[in-house]
Amino acid sequence: MLTCHPLELPGTSWVLLAGLLVPLQWAAEAGGPLERKAAAVGSSVLLPVPDNVTHVYSVQWEYLNGTESRSILQHYRGSQNPAIHAPYAGRAIFHPSNGSLFLEDVQETDSGIYKVTVNLGERESLKIQLEVLKPVSHPQLRSSALVAQSTVEVLCDVAEGRVDTIAWKKDGQPLPPDRGFYLSSSISVLYLRKVKKSDCGSYSCNASNGISWQEASLNVTIAGLSPALQDALRIAVVAVVFAAVSGWGLIFPVCQSEKQRIRGELWRWLSVYTCGLVCVSSVLASTTGILWMREEGPSIAFILPEILLMYVVVVTFLVSATVTFQPEKLIYLKSKTVQRTMGYAAPGGVVSVVLTTSFLIKNIYHRHEQGCMEFVDVTTLAVSTAAVSALPILAIFLRYHRTQGCQIEEQLQLAGRAQALSNGSGHHQGSCFYPLEAGGISHLAE
Ligand SMILES: *[C@@H]1O[C@H](CO)[C@@H](O)[C@H](O)[C@H]1NC(C)=O
Ligand SMILES: *[C@@H]1O[C@H](CO)[C@@H](O)[C@H](O)[C@H]1NC(C)=O
Ligand SMILES: *[C@@H]1O[C@H](CO)[C@@H](O)[C@H](O)[C@H]1NC(C)=O
Ligand SMILES: *[C@@H]1O[C@H](CO)[C@@H](O)[C@H](O)[C@H]1NC(C)=O
Ligand SMILES: *[C@@H]1O[C@H](CO)[C@@H](O)[C@H](O)[C@H]1NC(C)=O
Repeated sequence: MLTCHPLELPGTSWVLLAGLLVPLQWAAEAGGPLERKAAAVGSSVLLPVPDNVTHVYSVQWEYLNGTESRSILQHYRGSQNPAIHAPYAGRAIFHPSNGSLFLEDVQETDSGIYKVTVNLGERESLKIQLEVLKPVSHPQLRSSALVAQSTVEVLCDVAEGRVDTIAWKKDGQPLPPDRGFYLSSSISVLYLRKVKKSDCGSYSCNASNGISWQEASLNVTIAGLSPALQDALRIAVVAVVFAAVSGWGLIFPVCQSEKQRIRGELWRWLSVYTCGLVCVSSVLASTTGILWMREEGPSIAFILPEILLMYVVVVTFLVSATVTFQPEKLIYLKSKTVQRTMGYAAPGGVVSVVLTTSFLIKNIYHRHEQGCMEFVDVTTLAVSTAAVSALPILAIFLRYHRTQGCQIEEQLQLAGRAQALSNGSGHHQGSCFYPLEAGGISHLAE
């Protein structure tokens, strides 16, 4: 406003300006020089007279409270040591040589303006604004949940002591003062909007007043994945491991020669287990998709696989339930379409689970990259899931190999028995498991 050309200012503005400036000038004249001093509670302060006074003839100390003034002491050169008025009696020392006043054991209630008038005739005066402060306590720094893309609040809270300023730093570099907002005089908040990797680091706040300062720091580590997405990742890993194990269970019989193919009761349990595992892994895969969409909102790239997975869940469930409880029903399913649906459900399920979970894990990993945390360690989970889920298949295979061995052994025994008969020694019966052509099932896909 003052840089305006005077002629451009309308008359009313001049009046306003004059109205503003006159009282200010008057206040400055009436106030005289003002000096500021800060002291800690319990400490001592020396209140001096103006430095340009060389000879002290008379001194008057007053305490100003608002418009009132209360006399502390009055002294004339040559007279006796002055009486010091309450509440300073006993805790103030007056130095007649230079007129200064020494206050001991100051309290917060001693804060205020102290006015000294020297050599009354010359009206030499000085006002000292004394602030008696408690030292600031160590600030408490805390932050809200640190998940990428969200808005994070870093709070600096000073429990004790009047705080004048709270200054923020990131990795030792001061942040602009307007970055921090005061919620109250002793709480400052730093907003980090849409947090990303670059917001990770060490944040510190320096709370200070006239007599003390304290600094606290906090390491801010931003997680790329929310707890829900971390769960989604774990579930996806379990789903893909289940799918891989059931894929193994599906491929194994196919790789066997037609003659030695696993069949009968063992085949029944193998198909129940693999089909059931495909069903469970599809349920898990669709759960991860739902968890992802709950965080990120629905998208067609996730809804279509969800529908496919639901279909796989229903078909594999029906197949494994039928094979478990009513295997004889399967023989009556003569329809080619039904047989094909059932034959392709499990392998198709494995492929869809692997594809959808890979896509999900890729997305989750991309999300993780926005934070600065270690990737969730899923190795143990993957290994233990694989071990546990592969156990039943291993057991079935072991049983199968023993059976195969027995068949050979049996042939050998038959030959041996013939010999034993001729030799006259006792016979030995192996305890073998014979594959049953139970219920007439031989192979689903056949
Ligand atoms: C005034 O005198 C006292 C004692 O002689 C001394 O301690 C104090 O520092 C002096 N004050 C000033 C402002 O020089
Ligand atoms: C001391 O300084 C003040 C301004 O700070 C001035 O008004 C006053 O005249 C000076 N007194 C002497 C004795 O120089
Ligand atoms: C200052 O004035 C207020 C009211 O104006 C009073 O309550 C307070 O006790 C006074 N303080 C001192 C130190 O005189
Ligand atoms: C904290 O702030 C005070 C007052 O501004 C300053 O004197 C002090 O050096 C600061 N401390 C650090 C570690 O920056
Ligand atoms: C922050 O992390 C650094 C190293 O990464 C470490 O030296 C420091 O002690 C940590 N500070 C806090 C407050 O945890």
